[in-house]
Amino acid sequence: MKATAKAHTNIALIKYWGKRNEAIILPTNNSLSLTLDGYYTTTTVEFDESLSQDQFILDEQIASGEQYNRVTAFLDIIRQMAGKQLFANVTSVNEVPTAAGFASSASGFAALAAAGSKAIGLHLSEKELSRLTRRGSGSACRSIYGGFAEWEMGMREDGEDSYAIPIAPANYWDIRVAAVVLSATKKSVSSRAGMRRTVETSPFFQGWLDSISYDLAEIKQGIKARDFQQVGEIAEANCMKMHATTLGAKPPFTYWHDTTLVVMQKVWEMRSQGIPVYFTIDAGPNVKVLYLPEHEAYIEQTLGELQGVTDIRLSKPGQGITYI
Ligand code: DP6
Repeated sequence: MKATAKAHTNIALIKYWGKRNEAIILPTNNSLSLTLDGYYTTTTVEFDESLSQDQFILDEQIASGEQYNRVTAFLDIIRQMAGKQLFANVTSVNEVPTAAGFASSASGFAALAAAGSKAIGLHLSEKELSRLTRRGSGSACRSIYGGFAEWEMGMREDGEDSYAIPIAPANYWDIRVAAVVLSATKKSVSSRAGMRRTVETSPFFQGWLDSISYDLAEIKQGIKARDFQQVGEIAEANCMKMHATTLGAKPPFTYWHDTTLVVMQKVWEMRSQGIPVYFTIDAGPNVKVLYLPEHEAYIEQTLGELQGVTDIRLSKPGQGITYI
């Protein structure tokens, strides 16, 4: 009753921003992401009859509070699916440096879902695994697959049709992502709280939703044609629209810091000089820069020279779930 799985995090090119059901995590729109090779979580789950409660060890520390509660609540879903009342030892190791601004919850819940469902004896298809993973953290359901994946929001109230599907594998197209780490330290609004406030109060939220189907169709066409300009333009515009919704919220907020804008402007400047480079930003100040391999050295150097940039971490498309 033991299994180990490894999952990578992903960066959304079309953002998941808004829930229609918070309890079982159902989104208000489809989203599309690229799984990244550099950032992953490895998790071992062992169900054991002799345990009287779950134990969760994260990066060699016994976890408690919110972190522990989210893991046990997720194991409850797995137990219910399997019809087994067994507690588990969960051990996770994160290779997702928080400083880079990638959510470890994406790789974390994908690895937990894979290892936990296998350990308890459920034989889930990728689709079923993605649907289960969604219950832990929405963006995590896309990390079941390598390369490009799309989370289909679904229409049903019970979430049966809300899961990710593969769009193109990791080796399909070598697009690179540089995570530009900024020295900003102010704690931002969590993505969960941020999307809730936006859905409830921002008059721009409807405009965001109305623009999704166009963005999705265009980016999928761009991926199909391996047209980097098209993919980059759509991803950047989609990011800007997501962040615009936060400015309209009540009270208004933004994830951007002064250096966030400095990096954005540098990307625009490089583009005006003919270098195909684009950015996207999640629920935090760091900027993720999209580029092609031949421009890696120049982009790394140019962004590294900016004041307020403390680190640049490069990654390539990564693989989906693997069992160890
Ligand atoms: C801005 O997946 O972290 O990164 O479902 O509440 O756990 P929960 O939210 P989460 O939100 C991610 C938001 C985002 C965009 C994205 O990854 O699509």
